[in-house]
Amino acid sequence: MTTAAGAPVADNQNSITAGQRGPTLIQDFHLLEKLAHFNRERIPERIVHAKGAGAYGYFEVTNDEISKYTKADFLSEAGKRTDLFIRFSTVAGELGSADTVRDPRGFSVKFYTNEGNYDLVGNNTPIFFIRDAIKFPDFIHTQKRNPQTHLKDKDMVWDFWSLSPESLHQITYLHGDRGIPATFRHMNGYGSHTFKWVNKDGEAFWIKYHFISEQGVKGLEASLAEKIAGENPDYHIEDLHNAIANEDFPVWKLYVQIMPYEDAKTYKWDPFDVTKVWSKKDYPRIEVGRMVLNRNPENYFAEVEQAAFSPGQFVPGIEASPDKMLQGRLFAYSDAHRYRLGVNHHQIPVNRPKAEVNHYQRDGFMAVNGNGGSKPNYEPNSVNGPVEDPTAKIKPFDVYGEADSVPYDSDDHYTQAGDLYRLMSADEKDRLIQAFVDHMKPVTRDEIKLRQIEHFYKADAEWGERIAQGLGLQVPESVKS
Ligand code: HEM
Repeated sequence: MTTAAGAPVADNQNSITAGQRGPTLIQDFHLLEKLAHFNRERIPERIVHAKGAGAYGYFEVTNDEISKYTKADFLSEAGKRTDLFIRFSTVAGELGSADTVRDPRGFSVKFYTNEGNYDLVGNNTPIFFIRDAIKFPDFIHTQKRNPQTHLKDKDMVWDFWSLSPESLHQITYLHGDRGIPATFRHMNGYGSHTFKWVNKDGEAFWIKYHFISEQGVKGLEASLAEKIAGENPDYHIEDLHNAIANEDFPVWKLYVQIMPYEDAKTYKWDPFDVTKVWSKKDYPRIEVGRMVLNRNPENYFAEVEQAAFSPGQFVPGIEASPDKMLQGRLFAYSDAHRYRLGVNHHQIPVNRPKAEVNHYQRDGFMAVNGNGGSKPNYEPNSVNGPVEDPTAKIKPFDVYGEADSVPYDSDDHYTQAGDLYRLMSADEKDRLIQAFVDHMKPVTRDEIKLRQIEHFYKADAEWGERIAQGLGLQVPESVKS
């Protein structure tokens, strides 16, 4: 045993005191170091997705044809393998919260490609609650705690959702059978946003990612989930760890929906609206490869807590779309990492690219990788410093219209949500209605409930009727029409 400076520690049980009963001496450097370091063990938890589990694995391409659509090297040929790290999470709860709550699950994948790290930071739902980044902090405030009571607050939740009807599709998904996954292994993952793929010839395509679980998709029945939350709040973390430790390696197949670039202008839904899905009949899923998780982290804090995933980290051949949520996320994550982990978070082993890193950023807290040594720290230079690679340029794209705070051009929040409701079996509908009623019952203001019921009615009259009945509310005719 040594101090952090590597010197031997003689006694880790008895501090140095003035005699047997005397006070402790400030001379006990080891004691002071130990107490001081302990005080600094906590770093800020993620502002969302604070509780999670991580694992290592690999991605293997199974479809040679994918290189027709993207020049991304890690997708270039069947059989190609890329190491990865994944983190699953709940969204709203704090670091110590229960795993088996009704909440979306994060599904973040870091591909360590030979062209740099590619982060795909998705969820287990193909859609989201809102569609403009400017609403995100307000939305998350309603999912967290009341500023006065410090309690979770259903009035805040339903006030916001009922005033943000674009959330209807996602909350339907959330209150359905997939709203509480049986385990992290038994859920699908989605990139949710639309992304742009560009091939070697410079042709662009719009794509959506779907990771389909080979374990099957299974949910937890709400009352069982509540029981587990009380008995074993870390149920999902434990399940993932044990499955991998027992070599029951979880597997997902990755598919993409591919939309020809020009279709975006005329498709019946705005393809950059993250509250909408693309019909699989219009854009069938095409297999890309498989992801296998086969190694547990050695140290939770080092590898899972310090993992930093950023939707802005692309590799050549994969680019952003104009989705207004994605655009906000391109900023938010790396900014969170600079706050949570520091400006040199890329140097933390779990985040460190396996590709060679060559840039002119220097210094800052915790510059621990040699900081560029004696290499030049400016560019352009005439001393053989790293130079740009024009082949990595993004594909130029046209923009049009006037700069303004522009809303989306469609407010149809009801067709896809209603379709999802109508797709459910009678049993599923019963559970969905029950989940909504249980969630809305504690709301103290009837006007909030009625405003939300109006949205259910607009999506499907039967749905609105059943929720109103469940809540024991008389619904005015004006709400039903
Ligand atoms: C985590 C912001 C929407 C999935 C986070 C974090 C921030 C954030 C600041 C914490 C990052 C960290 O400390 O490491 C936002 C903003 C959004 C948004 C501003 C909207 C504009 C979304 C959407 C998805 C998503 C639409 C899924 C499609 C995730 C996941 C994590 C996360 C999976 C956890 C990453 C991890 O495992 O470390 N988000 N988010 N977020 N977000 Fe978002």
